[in-house]
Amino acid sequence: MNPMLTIAVRAAREAGRIITRNFGRIDRLTITDKGSNDFVSEVDRNAEQVIIEVLRDKYPQHAILAEESGRHPGSDYQWIIDPLDGTTNFLHGFPQFAVSIALKVKGRLEIGVVYDPLKEEMFTAGRGEGALLNDRKIRVSSRKGLEGALLGTGLPYRDFSHTDNYMGMLRDLIKASAGVRRPGSAALDFAYVAAGRTDGFWELGLQEWDFAAGALLVREAGGLVTDIGGGERFFDTGNVIAGGIKVHKAMLKHILHHLDDKLTA
Ligand code: IPD
Ligand code: CA
Ligand code: CA
Repeated sequence: MNPMLTIAVRAAREAGRIITRNFGRIDRLTITDKGSNDFVSEVDRNAEQVIIEVLRDKYPQHAILAEESGRHPGSDYQWIIDPLDGTTNFLHGFPQFAVSIALKVKGRLEIGVVYDPLKEEMFTAGRGEGALLNDRKIRVSSRKGLEGALLGTGLPYRDFSHTDNYMGMLRDLIKASAGVRRPGSAALDFAYVAAGRTDGFWELGLQEWDFAAGALLVREAGGLVTDIGGGERFFDTGNVIAGGIKVHKAMLKHILHHLDDKLTA
């Protein structure tokens, strides 16, 4: 295994320990509101700190972009960290959340780790090396289109400026597929596409740390990740579609009908 992937896995496990230790003690946590419907707890902060310590211990020169503490300058190697993706779920005792750690080198994704500490599922990917779940190769589903497909999504919950566009997409994709799920952790949503548990996923307004690791997982599992216009600008817009090649194409066709001047690719 790429030594940097080994370190990222170690960091994810340490963060996972903090998260699971606190999962049954949510009433004792200090929770603050970062903005409308945007909560953070000491678990998010402590998990992030431990990840940064593990990474910085080995790679003191590397740059970091972390959800809670922001940008830490450094070299062309940049770690992108979401210490707890699915905080709202975590705070409600809803068991779907993950640690997400990615590495970009000169802007290109090289490593992705998404770890579900409750299910002890470690999703890993290295560029050109495929995607694994607990050391076993995973592939996106080979479904030919939306018929019979199970899709994942994220509902708007903080920024409601594109809700009408989103609801149009949802309406069409509900009708065209076998069902749509909103599990509440974008990092895991991507990992589930990579593992073929869902056939496709889309969400508007994500942040880089929500899906940097997940995007590499999907690509390395043979899938496609684009912005909602079918282009490459998903890191700029946060509007993302992921899926097996054919399902992605079919989703894109429906989604394109609901773009307007305010919501472009
Ligand atoms: C959130 C989760 C959620 C997605 C939101 C994200 P957080 O991350 O990934 O599924 O719908 O857009 O912000 O805030 O729990 O790290
Ligand atoms: Ca997140
Ligand atoms: Ca988070």
